[in-house]
Amino acid sequence: MPRVVEANAATISEAAEQLRNGGVVAFPTETVYGLGADTLQPAALKQIYALKLRPANNPLIAHVLDSQQVRTIAREWDQRCDLLVGRFWPGPLTIVVNRSVSVPDEATAGYETIAVRSPAHPVARQLLREFGRPISAPSANRSGHVSPTSATHVADDFSHVADLLILDGGPCDVGIESVVLDMTREVPTILRPGSITAESIRECLGIPVAQSTSTHQDASPGTALSHYAPHTPLILVSAKDLLPRLHELSAESKKCAVISMQHHAIALPHRLFAMPSDADAYAARLYHTLREADAFGGDVIVLERPAAQGELWDAINNRLSRAATPS
Ligand code: TXA
Ligand code: MG
Repeated sequence: MPRVVEANAATISEAAEQLRNGGVVAFPTETVYGLGADTLQPAALKQIYALKLRPANNPLIAHVLDSQQVRTIAREWDQRCDLLVGRFWPGPLTIVVNRSVSVPDEATAGYETIAVRSPAHPVARQLLREFGRPISAPSANRSGHVSPTSATHVADDFSHVADLLILDGGPCDVGIESVVLDMTREVPTILRPGSITAESIRECLGIPVAQSTSTHQDASPGTALSHYAPHTPLILVSAKDLLPRLHELSAESKKCAVISMQHHAIALPHRLFAMPSDADAYAARLYHTLREADAFGGDVIVLERPAAQGELWDAINNRLSRAATPS
């Protein structure tokens, strides 16, 4: 069984000590929970891959306290990166830069680049301060599964891992993963959308920014199509198709978990999981609700695809499409 402990000065110190000793610990960030290890210890990094069953070609994000710490693991950190840091750090922006030679291959899955981000969550920051070095951490879920936005979610995914230390810092505010921005290309390119808009990045840098629509493994392996998926098959429908579709599924004797922003009266055996209509609140709630709907134990999850416009809705819809793609 994992050990979920309230994050406080004593438990954060203990987690830092475990990291120094080559261990793996889970901790909260403002986006999702991370499963962390020392960026400079190859054996510790290998444990992350083994625990998550993560494909060996999918590189990790190194979490840092500030841009000073980046200098130990990255090279060619230029003025444009400093502009981004000034505006968006600490926060949900991950910057991909060329890595320094001291970084082990395990930290970047062999890539010559490294992804770095400075989380805003006070527990993550205190852990980074105590540890004093970068912490590599992917989201703390089993590979391909829904990302965790609470300590309980982490414990559920790693229930078989004896003594895994999980720092409980409450539910995550942002709820979807950071924006991944590749600064090694001629035109800075967003590899994964999120809560920071392309427009605000463009405005900060004063130059055009591209959005990668590629789901090609080479660009960023984590953008491979199937991701964030519950175990129960997930169907996305428009608001107007929701009730007709439910009717059809009922006729096939399917029990459905319905995720919708409309407060329909949903008859048994189905159950409604209501979502907020505000984009920030929706993002914060999404993974929690997907996990709840999964635990309901129906035959299908029917989710009303949000139709509202906006970059955060685009990022949400990006996650939903991947969650609905069978692996
Ligand atoms: O919000 C977040 O970013 C969370 C928290 C824990 O910080 N972390 C997270 O990590 O979502 P993960 O491993 O689940 O997703 C990292 C993404 C993957 O899509 C990975 O392929 C991409 O970042 N990535 C990491 N290093 C990269 C690199 N050097 N070049 C391109 N993409 C990279
Ligand atoms: Mg992940």
